[in-house]
Amino acid sequence: MPMTKKTNRTEYESPRITPLDRPMTTRPPLSHRQAQSTREIAGQDPLALLEKYGSPVVLFDGERLKKTYKSFVGAFQERYEKMHVAYSVKTNYLSSLVALLYQQGAKMEVVSGFEYAVCRRLGIPGTDITFNGPWKKNEELREAFENGSQVNLDNHDEVERVLKIAKGIPGKKKIGIRVNMDVSYPPWDKFGFNLTSGDAMAMAERILDNDELELAGLHMHVGTYIPNPDQYKKGAAALVELALRLRDKFGIAPKSLDMGGGYASSNTLRGQMLQGTATSPTPDMYAACLTEPLLHAKEKEGYEPELILEPGRALIDECGDILTTVVSVKPLRGGGRAAIIDAGVNILPTAYWYDHEVSPIATEPRPVEKVKLFGPLCMQIAVIRASVVLPPPRCGDVAALGRVGAYNFSQSMQFIYARPNYLLALDGDIHVIRREEGVEDALALESVPSTLMPVEESP
Ligand SMILES: Cc1ncc(COP(=O)(O)O)c(C=O)c1O
Repeated sequence: MPMTKKTNRTEYESPRITPLDRPMTTRPPLSHRQAQSTREIAGQDPLALLEKYGSPVVLFDGERLKKTYKSFVGAFQERYEKMHVAYSVKTNYLSSLVALLYQQGAKMEVVSGFEYAVCRRLGIPGTDITFNGPWKKNEELREAFENGSQVNLDNHDEVERVLKIAKGIPGKKKIGIRVNMDVSYPPWDKFGFNLTSGDAMAMAERILDNDELELAGLHMHVGTYIPNPDQYKKGAAALVELALRLRDKFGIAPKSLDMGGGYASSNTLRGQMLQGTATSPTPDMYAACLTEPLLHAKEKEGYEPELILEPGRALIDECGDILTTVVSVKPLRGGGRAAIIDAGVNILPTAYWYDHEVSPIATEPRPVEKVKLFGPLCMQIAVIRASVVLPPPRCGDVAALGRVGAYNFSQSMQFIYARPNYLLALDGDIHVIRREEGVEDALALESVPSTLMPVEESP
């Protein structure tokens, strides 16, 4: 009799073509285009801001952030009411932005003691903070438990430390389990316990067996800038299934299921043919897929966990612009022109991933050409746009680089240039939420051994 060999391979699914439900961008040829010029950003005059705060300057639009948050949450809540957002603080931890999102109703998700401190300094209670991430120090775990935060376990070594730390702290400590699974290719397998191998189930059983701990939730994070909302449907179905298996076995199901982040912003990936505004799924599309397994579990199984989402870029990318000035124009050896602007990858590291939108500011209508945009860093690879259609650049021209809100401040570097002013437009006012750095700020933490100090010349 032929033997059937068991494999763990997931079944092959034939590719599907999903028609766009929005018009594709069709653009006239270059020779017929005029530059679109912007005169207002976040309700502000960009030229006046540059005059007052120097160039470059980073501007966040508080009203836009409120709207984006509302429409993201709304898309999910209208389908599945029992949900909340835990904003992924690492995406942008400028205190004012974290405070603004908290004011709108977001809870917080942090992945380090540093981010935890950012939230606590704002008065955010520990019960509104989930502590995630693959490396949490002992003292950080202790503080999180004492403050009633949920700690999401990532690995076996961490579990051993958590068990010891939890013993000394009264009350049940809230635990989440990070689960990784094969819903994206390549799968994100760095975080948490694997579902297919049974590791996640075994870990859940271990927590349920422990009187000091409460299994408060299951967590997944399947990737970032996920273009296919179906991945969330698969992930949510897998978490629901695991939760129901636990309920069958122990009579208790986790109170919350956390689907992590990864929802795309409408930035355009480098090299992508169409604009991100035409290709990125909307919150509605994500919500329709992700909530389906939860609604099914509610109806068929009477299981209605709190749904937690951890968006980062989808909330905050749209809300930031960098205002920048052309400082030099030069011909390129192979033809065409390059412009050097005063904003570099030191404050815009996502230029390595995205073709950020470039909007000329306050120029008269002029025909356009293809231009290469370099930042000011003394490195050939520090390119902001390899090719962008703009009016022929001139020194002193001003432009806005759009959708820069996510990951740029938190991944910015003090490399060659110090960071500029960061502004927030809110309720008609402009606030400096992080002032320009000076040499003294950058050097404040350094000390030089006295033997290395230059000898002062005697008079
Ligand atoms: C656990 C977790 N949640 C949320 C996020 C936010 O991701 P995104 O900005 O893609 O939404 C990340 C980022 O990688 C993450 O690691």
